[in-house]
Amino acid sequence: PVKVKKIVCIGAGYVGGPTCAVIAQRCPDITVTIVDINEARINAWNDKDFHLPIYEPGLEDVVKSCRGRNLFFSTDVDKAIQEADLIFVSVNTPTKKSGVGAGFAADLNYVELATRRIAAVANSNKIVVEKSTVPCRTAESMRVILEANAKPNCRFDILSNPEFLAEGTAIPDLHNPDRVLIGSLQTPEGLEACQSLADIYAHWVPRERILTVGLWSSELSKLAANAMLAQRISSINALSAICEATGSNIDEVAHAVGHDTRIGPKFLKASVGFGGSCFQKDILNLVYLSESLHLPEVAAYWRQVVEMNEYQKSRFSKRVVDTLFNTITGKHIAVLGFAFKADTGDTRESAAISLIRDFQKERANVNLYDPQVEESQIWQDLSEASPELPLETIKKQVRICSSSMQACKGAEAVVIATEWKEFKEIDWEVVYQSMNKPAFVFDGRLLVDAAKLTKIGFKVVTIGRGEL
Ligand code: NAD
Ligand code: UDX
Repeated sequence: PVKVKKIVCIGAGYVGGPTCAVIAQRCPDITVTIVDINEARINAWNDKDFHLPIYEPGLEDVVKSCRGRNLFFSTDVDKAIQEADLIFVSVNTPTKKSGVGAGFAADLNYVELATRRIAAVANSNKIVVEKSTVPCRTAESMRVILEANAKPNCRFDILSNPEFLAEGTAIPDLHNPDRVLIGSLQTPEGLEACQSLADIYAHWVPRERILTVGLWSSELSKLAANAMLAQRISSINALSAICEATGSNIDEVAHAVGHDTRIGPKFLKASVGFGGSCFQKDILNLVYLSESLHLPEVAAYWRQVVEMNEYQKSRFSKRVVDTLFNTITGKHIAVLGFAFKADTGDTRESAAISLIRDFQKERANVNLYDPQVEESQIWQDLSEASPELPLETIKKQVRICSSSMQACKGAEAVVIATEWKEFKEIDWEVVYQSMNKPAFVFDGRLLVDAAKLTKIGFKVVTIGRGEL
């Protein structure tokens, strides 16, 4: 197999950046260049004070250890493609907003443009690796595009190598992955390319955790893994509604159920609903795939996982309104957390966006605090969620605060939307003194000690816990 010396990664986002930075860190003999058409993003990756474009614990140390040594960030996509032996395609694949499959299918425009660029400028053989999450058989489309546009004597071998990192834990996930998955055609050339990529990961991942499978299985496994993880959350969230109506406690139920070694304890945390750029998008993609294959029952089965998530979010905001004596008009609600989970500044599909939109519709005032999310991002997300409202109107209803304490002051209720560790360390005695009474805490993340807060004087409402 080809011994890879130079890698280019097209797409310097949440996946391309951390993944290829870790490859550079663990493979000092390989030169890694991460390219993007977004100049501001590349400038941030090159920032001399390491104000990187994404917040991820441990990322700064990785970049510090190899940037300028064998890790480079650039906007010169063509040059980097020409020099590389192996190309990761790690561009975004969002849900299509219009046209055939709108609202379900993946938008493959960015993948296609990147593939066409590779074909146009490459003047030697390349291993092309799908890192983006793509529908089943996308590798075949890439092959057709590459072969139709390639210069003579250029061969392309296509691999699928989906990424399983979760945001917030990207660096430990990459350093110590449960598995690395590589899919290839089962031809001698395909298997050889697969070996070249496996040899890169083998610099730090034990060989038995590097799984090699067929191309189509690899592509489908990524959608399947995300669908099954999200399904666990929707299952536990569906049960949380039963708990609230019966006086059972979802934490106790999850604990009891998860102790069955066949089920396992992970991903059974009831919440205000899952968010993030992947789960919803990838399940909708699977739904679309099932429908295209004329499997409507299969499509309906997976679609329900997303529907349950929508229900969970709206159920929670309704519970807030109901509890606050059926009206929140003119009341002040402190929303703690805007990111879709802790330890990230990413807000894509965050449950907080839906909650705040619902509170705005009820004409409440929202005091919002998140330790990482940029203000400009908050305004962009809230505007997109309520396209009928001018930004000025939104800004009158939502105030961005610089601490939990500031957000809670004078409020009738606190809503915990993200499980940031610092929210566990809030001095609730002091918060209680500063709030209007009766003071409510709505815990959408099973984060606070409800008994302790009740003792202070709060009325505490927790996901998946009944008041019976
Ligand atoms: P992202 O939007 O953060 O990054 C994608 C980057 O690609 C952007 O910076 C964009 O400017 C760049 N880009 C697009 N077209 C380009 C082109 N033709 N040439 C150069 N650059 C181009 O997206 P992300 O979150 O990193 O996700 C990337 C892929 O990885 C998606 O398919 C996603 O489903 C998958 N994935 C994401 C996660 C996650 O946790 N975010 C996890 C696993 C897999
Ligand atoms: C997910 C997959 O976990 C990862 O393997 C894949 O590569 C990308 O998609 P990510 O979206 O970054 O990762 O975060 P994840 O930790 O999976 O959380 C997704 C959402 O589910 C978050 O909103 C989180 O708060 C929520 N969640 C997670 C729960 O509500 N309960 C849980 O038990 C776990």
